[in-house]
Amino acid sequence: MSLYLDHLAALQRQAESALERTGFDMLLIASGIEKFAFLDDRPYLFQPNPHFKHWLPLTKHPHCWLAVRPGKKPRVVYFQPDDYWHVPPSAPSGEWVDAVELIVIREPETAAQALADLVTSRTAILGEADAALPGLTPNNPELLLNLLHWARGVKTPYELEQMRAAQRRAVPAHRAARQAFMAGASEAEIHRAYLAASGHTDRDLPYGNIVGLNEHAAVLHYQYQDASPPAEVRSFLIDAGAEVNGYASDITRTWAARGHDEFAALIAAMEVEQLGLVDEVREGVDYRDIHLSAHRRIARVLRRAGIVAMDEEAMVEEGVTKPFFPHGIGHLLGLQVHDVGGFMAAEDGSVADKPEGHRYLRLTRPLQAGMVVTIEPGLYFIPMLLRELRASKHAAQVDWAVVERLSRYGGIRIEDDVACRAAGEAPENLTRDAFASA
Ligand code: GLY
Ligand code: MN
Ligand code: MN
Repeated sequence: MSLYLDHLAALQRQAESALERTGFDMLLIASGIEKFAFLDDRPYLFQPNPHFKHWLPLTKHPHCWLAVRPGKKPRVVYFQPDDYWHVPPSAPSGEWVDAVELIVIREPETAAQALADLVTSRTAILGEADAALPGLTPNNPELLLNLLHWARGVKTPYELEQMRAAQRRAVPAHRAARQAFMAGASEAEIHRAYLAASGHTDRDLPYGNIVGLNEHAAVLHYQYQDASPPAEVRSFLIDAGAEVNGYASDITRTWAARGHDEFAALIAAMEVEQLGLVDEVREGVDYRDIHLSAHRRIARVLRRAGIVAMDEEAMVEEGVTKPFFPHGIGHLLGLQVHDVGGFMAAEDGSVADKPEGHRYLRLTRPLQAGMVVTIEPGLYFIPMLLRELRASKHAAQVDWAVVERLSRYGGIRIEDDVACRAAGEAPENLTRDAFASA
């Protein structure tokens, strides 16, 4: 059997079990609708319901529906309008077509008729409110969603293959971006080099590229791209991914320009710790402990670089690493860049709390084989947070001359996508594997 058909069979089993446990007799999933700007005829970028693209490699397909019934093939209602203003979705093709019962519709409203023979009062309908059609109002049952979101944390072999492919798509683009940086390109030019090498446009990236030169690297989700390069180019942070069949990669690299050895050494020190953290991705490990380990490791980097003169444990204990590393160590990755289910303690939806004082951590769940997570430690010089540190009782332990010198580089983030393997096995670093084989 193919990996895709295996994946579909696994989802069918998960769905049947979830339906039975929650008392529903059918699962109906809306892909979503195309949305328009207020008082305008320009559509927003279509973002499919992740539940829909979990089953089908269809990401540019609004107004479609998927019906999952116990013991039967799924039914796909496929919207393919007659349209000469736009290119309509092509005729259904691919491995999924033979695995489903297919109904092609030309008008969005026709979906209600195409599903009328299946829908009962015990139908779970997943989707946004605006996807509703007469008799098909999304109810998004919470218990059922919990079961599905919990299961989605562990990837099928098919999903891991898509995610490996999403790495292979991003890696040449990261290389092209670095080359453009070394050649003195502007942020906008680097971004275009990335798009060209990945084959993406801005329309189909899994998230907006973060491309920051110098101080811009200190803005965690820097959203602009300057058209001209700064007078002196010192450093470069790029956080950019790629997408394959609805699955994302999420990769960050930081580079120093030639001659900026102090910052290059800081990057090298962070890379050692980042690789150490990747190695902590093991079955049964509490991901919160990896986050706390990151703070201890960053304390070591801060002390050795002469930035903070404090005992490493005390540095973490007193929260002095936080202004330098003010985000979580990572998150679940998959159909969404920040994939769902990160705070679940169990499939019933109970919550695994964040460690006290670490409100930006997005994953608090124990690791299981087949989960894909990011490991993305950072060390930044963020003026707003440094001002607070300077006003604190720890200010005297900070070498502000070093901070000022390093602030010109903005900051460092190094991010890999990592699959957890079975107990006792080292993790699979999807990102580094793709760099190594490119
Ligand atoms: N690219 C966003 C993140 O790393 O979480
Ligand atoms: Mn990222
Ligand atoms: Mn990330």
